[in-house]
Parts: sequence; C-alpha cells; structure tokens
Amino acid sequence: MTMTAGRETLVDGEFAFTQADFRHIASALHSHAGIALHEGKAALVYSRLAKRLRTLGLRNFAEYIALVESPEGKEERQAMTAALTTNVTRFYREPHHFDHLRDVVMPQLAARARAGGRVRLWSAACSNGQEPYSMALTVLEKLPEANDLDVRILATDIDPNMVVEGRDGIYSDELLAPVPASGRRHFNPVS
Ligand SMILES: C[S@@+](CC[C@H](N)C(=O)[O-])C[C@H]1O[C@@H](n2cnc3c(N)ncnc32)[C@H](O)[C@@H]1O
Repeated sequence: MTMTAGRETLVDGEFAFTQADFRHIASALHSHAGIALHEGKAALVYSRLAKRLRTLGLRNFAEYIALVESPEGKEERQAMTAALTTNVTRFYREPHHFDHLRDVVMPQLAARARAGGRVRLWSAACSNGQEPYSMALTVLEKLPEANDLDVRILATDIDPNMVVEGRDGIYSDELLAPVPASGRRHFNPVS
C-alpha cells in the first residue's frame, strides 16, 4: 500500500489525525509558545484538541489547523496552548526545593534584605499560583518582616487562565492541606 507523505493516520478516532496534522499543530505551538512536541505525544494532542474541535463545531483537523494558522486564530492559539500544557501543581510540590530555599538560599537573602538590598524571586511557570505562594510562605518563615522590605516574587505562566487563578489566590481546604497552620493564617477564609 502506498501513502502520501504525512497522510498516515496517527490516531484513529472521531476525527482523522494524520502525521501532517500533528506537524502543523506542533509547529503552531512552537511558534506561539516555544514548546516542542514530539510525535510520541500524538495521542495526548489528539485527545485534548478533539475537545476543542467539538466545542468549536469543526468537522476535522484541517479546519482547526486553518483556524490556528490564521491571523484571526489568536484566541484559539491561546486556547490550544492551554489545552496542550499540563498544569499539575500543589503547595510545596517537590518539597526538597523548598527545604533548599529555606535552609540554604534564604539565610543569605534575608541578610541582604535586612541590609536594605533587593531580593527578587521568580516562579517562571507558576501554574495556578501554589508554587509562588509556597515560595512566599517559605520566605516568611525566615524573614517575617519581608512585606516591609524590598522583597518581591514574580509569578508567570504561559497559560493566562492559570495566571488569573493565581492572582485570585483562592484554594480549597483540600489543596491547602500541605500548608501548615502557621502558613494558613496568611490566607483569608472565603465564604
Ligand atoms: C507541570 S506545571 C508546574 C507548575 C509549578 N512550577 C509546579 O512545579 O508546581 C507546568 C506549567 O508550566 C507552564 N508552562 C509551560 N511552558 C511554559 C513556558 N514556555 N513559559 C511559561 N510557562 C510555561 C504550563 O502552563 C504549566 O502551568
């Protein structure tokens, strides 16, 4: 059997998803967000974007690709990026990072801040904020007066929905479970 290059079906589902479709999506994601996808992720890409096709009422991936590659596709490029990134996070995820921040990094930074110096920390892919808030709580353990000093934490994420959630900073009791009582007092209860 002969096949035209790129027309091989990668995922057999409700919508045909070929190697060429995958390459277009991967290229659009790379241009928009700098994220590289390899073909081993085809099933994941398919399952997450099939939902977008259904939501948008599109008939096939060709229509979806035409949209994300068009100048009018800005909003969908954003939605595609959100759909293809994984936002898993939790308070004090990878606890040894926070142990290191508290025990190794913070003593020097606290001394610098107390001497009037600048301290800047950055959670570069912050998801919905649990990481930067964990950083803030760790900073406060060693520097309770941080609010009065030149100490700032920047939190950014490529997924704007995550940035909105992080800015809201509203977390369920279940999510807050890893935060000790001494840290929880920094969160106001929401009714
Ligand atoms: C697995 S989560 C990790 C969140 C957090 N750093 C933690 O460890 O708990 C990965 C996050 O990285 C974000 N992300 C992926 N690529 C990014 C990029 N190029 N710039 C900024 N954020 C990015 C995703 O949107 C997602 O929220």
